[in-house]
Amino acid sequence: MACFGSVLATAYMAATEVEGPMQFQAPRGTKDVLPPESRTWQWVESTFRDVCSRFRYEEIRTPVFEETGLFSRGIGDSTDIVTKEMYTFEDRGGRSITLRPEGTASVIRAYVQAKLGGEHQLHRFYYIYSIFRYERPQHGRLRQSHQVGAEAIGSAGPEIDAEIICLNAALYEELGLTDARLHLNSIGCPACRPGYREAIRTALAPSLSRLCPDCQRRYETNPLRVIDCKVPDCREVAEQAPSILDSLCPACVEHFSGLRRLLDALGQPYDVDARLVRGLDYYMRTAFEFKSGSLGAQDSLSGGGRYDGLAELCGGKPAPGIGFAAGIERTILALADSGTAAPSDGRQPVYVASANGDARLEAVRVVQELRYAGLAADFDCFGRSLKAQLRAADRLPASHAVIVGTDELSRGVVVVRDLASGEQREVPRASIATEVTRPHHP
Ligand code: HAM
Repeated sequence: MACFGSVLATAYMAATEVEGPMQFQAPRGTKDVLPPESRTWQWVESTFRDVCSRFRYEEIRTPVFEETGLFSRGIGDSTDIVTKEMYTFEDRGGRSITLRPEGTASVIRAYVQAKLGGEHQLHRFYYIYSIFRYERPQHGRLRQSHQVGAEAIGSAGPEIDAEIICLNAALYEELGLTDARLHLNSIGCPACRPGYREAIRTALAPSLSRLCPDCQRRYETNPLRVIDCKVPDCREVAEQAPSILDSLCPACVEHFSGLRRLLDALGQPYDVDARLVRGLDYYMRTAFEFKSGSLGAQDSLSGGGRYDGLAELCGGKPAPGIGFAAGIERTILALADSGTAAPSDGRQPVYVASANGDARLEAVRVVQELRYAGLAADFDCFGRSLKAQLRAADRLPASHAVIVGTDELSRGVVVVRDLASGEQREVPRASIATEVTRPHHP
């Protein structure tokens, strides 16, 4: 086999004019997820699906790439995501295509395209997506990362804001992530935000030269973003800016206090954080993030908010909406930090060991039957001795070893050994599944 393999490799190298063997690495900012870590991913994803199903959210799947214009329009031309981070390329048909840098714009595009909506119709979606952003990789920040997210489209009332926030909180609760803290803000609406923008510009004008180059640009294009810049000098300058909560119009004040009343009534703790602005332009009114102290600089576990103008911006009828997305990688980092591990699926395999010859063939059949009967079953595929096979069964660890011997085979029986107690007995070939699932009586 090895010889045939190397012949193939040589032929391949000759054909592709590669000079020697090459080792490839996963691209910078991407990560392979191998077992056993993949079990934690499955646990996070299945927990999220379960919570969503209880909140009556249904799964939506959209393409991994979209027309570039959807994101530049939807997320905003002046945002960091659109100006610096998108994976954009021209396809062979000359179209500008972008790998999705987030999920919301695609969900709204699908909603508009399917002509969903109508009076008193609320559409609740959830998704599990990979997203792509050309960012500087660091702890908790990747170029391909993964999100679980939910969007509720059709209602403007604060009840649905509270629902989305509680859905996000329920995910952390179910996962046992106790240090996720909710930061909440209202960033106003098209009626009150222009006034606030001007108020920020006026307050920051005397210190403009102290802002970082990005914030000097943001000062012109989107001064709200200066408020939550992490650069220490910008933070200091931003102290001089008035609080957005003092600039809200009466309708936004009412919406925000309605949401706060609901969260209080539901027992959902939060910190009002007037600096929380979020990096996507489609937000209005509610903006929130769950943060974890264990994550360091990239401390945002999840983020979301209301985007009532997005459907119209994407060519649809007006449709208010709110949603959030939570980073899977960051959730897993926070879980690891708190020492929380994915629970075992409770499925201990049965190991089918055998002597060589006919017994081996029979062992493979037994494995197949057990698997078809709904049990996890494993066997030796290296031609090892019976003793070595039983050692492998212990190492797994398997719950039982089924020993298929030549002599037993002729009598239509096998030996089933309970590996925890060491107890073993002969059972008819047809009763193996019943025997290995029999409750253990010590
Ligand atoms: P976002 O704040 O850009 O919002 O991302 C949400 C979460 O995704 C972050 O809190 C973080 O956990 C994770 N995340 C984002 N970028 C990266 C990265 N480069 N590496 C690792 N994790 C990352 C959105 O994406 C909005 N679409 C959320 C939303 C849904 N708003 C309304 N509906």
